[in-house]
Amino acid sequence: MTAIPNADSLFDKAQQVLAGGVSAGMRINPYLGKPLYVERGEGAHLYDIDGRRLIDFNMSNGAALLGHDHPKVKAAVNHGVELGIICAAETSFHEELAAKMVEIIPAAERVRFSSVGTEVTIVALRIARAATGRSKYLKFDGHFHGLAEQWLYKRKDPLDPVSPVVPSSDGVPVSGAAEVVMVPWNDVAAFEEAMRVHGGELAAVFCEPIHYNAGCIPPADGFLELLRERTTEHGAILVFDEVLSGFRTHVGGVSAQYGVTPDLTTHAKALANGLPLSSVSGRADLMSLLTPTGGAIHSGTYSGHLLSVLAALATLDELSRPGVYEQINATAENFYAQLQSVFDENGVQVRVQGMGARFGLYFGRTDPVTTWTDATNHDHAVNQQFVAECNRLGVAFHGYTKQGPPGHAGFSLAHTQADFDETLNVVDTVAGSMGKGQKAKGKG
Ligand SMILES: Cc1ncc(COP(=O)(O)O)c(C=O)c1O
Repeated sequence: MTAIPNADSLFDKAQQVLAGGVSAGMRINPYLGKPLYVERGEGAHLYDIDGRRLIDFNMSNGAALLGHDHPKVKAAVNHGVELGIICAAETSFHEELAAKMVEIIPAAERVRFSSVGTEVTIVALRIARAATGRSKYLKFDGHFHGLAEQWLYKRKDPLDPVSPVVPSSDGVPVSGAAEVVMVPWNDVAAFEEAMRVHGGELAAVFCEPIHYNAGCIPPADGFLELLRERTTEHGAILVFDEVLSGFRTHVGGVSAQYGVTPDLTTHAKALANGLPLSSVSGRADLMSLLTPTGGAIHSGTYSGHLLSVLAALATLDELSRPGVYEQINATAENFYAQLQSVFDENGVQVRVQGMGARFGLYFGRTDPVTTWTDATNHDHAVNQQFVAECNRLGVAFHGYTKQGPPGHAGFSLAHTQADFDETLNVVDTVAGSMGKGQKAKGKG
């Protein structure tokens, strides 16, 4: 029998054959310096290759909202395998899933399925450009819409919301920065000014309606309404990218929760509970641009893969059950308040900020985090210590970069009270040692 290598030796071997040792750059947890090597997932738990059980607060970057091995999702995927592993073909299940989405998502009059989030944000921009004949687009600082060229721009100085916009990766043309108008989230004056100057030349305004990629930054009161009003006035298409926020606080997404309906919206992640499936949906007249005579193109061999569509039907059935969102929101309220108390009692300065099933931990901050600048300006060293210690004691949090925001965390419907209690105990132990360090430093 082959011995199961431990994480360190597997990472050494993986670096000899995989670029950077991984299949996705963000899979190296920057706080651990290596990936979490998973053997299997069960409910809210991951089992790593060293045989450790971890309570998971990343949940497949948010995809596994029902847990890692939900029986109905597994049965749906097995059904798809029995039907033949079909892609590049339409079935009655595609119509059934689209009808379900039209029923539950107010913004969705027509739906088009694809495979991953990045594809559908790009298609949404393409539709907006085709509809308006304009090419520029407005996005908010730090809002993440995938790793395609259009989204790979950032402020030169991430802590300065007026510094110039530059590529965030080598290989991305500097010229593309001229297409992007970038504005700080929740900054009414900056948004009003950007619309006054650029509104008439914008194809679209994109946002994460809750900025979960920065931990959790909700929209300020009236901000989504303002986006709706100004885009309508200037003839720009409003796009809510609900790839991460969709199904997190409300079955109809953030647009249903706030009662603000964008022109287009994108979904992925929790839609198929971990199977690759994404969608762009929205106003029928805009979506008609994707018809054969419409002029805007989208296709793809794997778009709307049958295994994923069946998984999504099972997922949405579960999420549409009465009481699910009361349960998610009540769990969220209790758990985030308890986490905050544990940190406070141990003298660790941190802001716990969450909505629905996802949250952020902002070490070194106590005031509400309302902007990307706030989110990136957390204490990275303390976050690293926290994530590493929790991981050692069996609670998994992810981190995305050492320079950026703290990384988003979340729970699933498979997390039990026992999981939350165990997590609070671990956090108490870790915060206890960190608090002592902070107090000792304070006494100098
Ligand atoms: C809001 C948002 N949009 C788009 C994407 C890109 O999705 P994918 O990684 O499936 O391409 C992500 C991924 O994290 C996301 O959070």
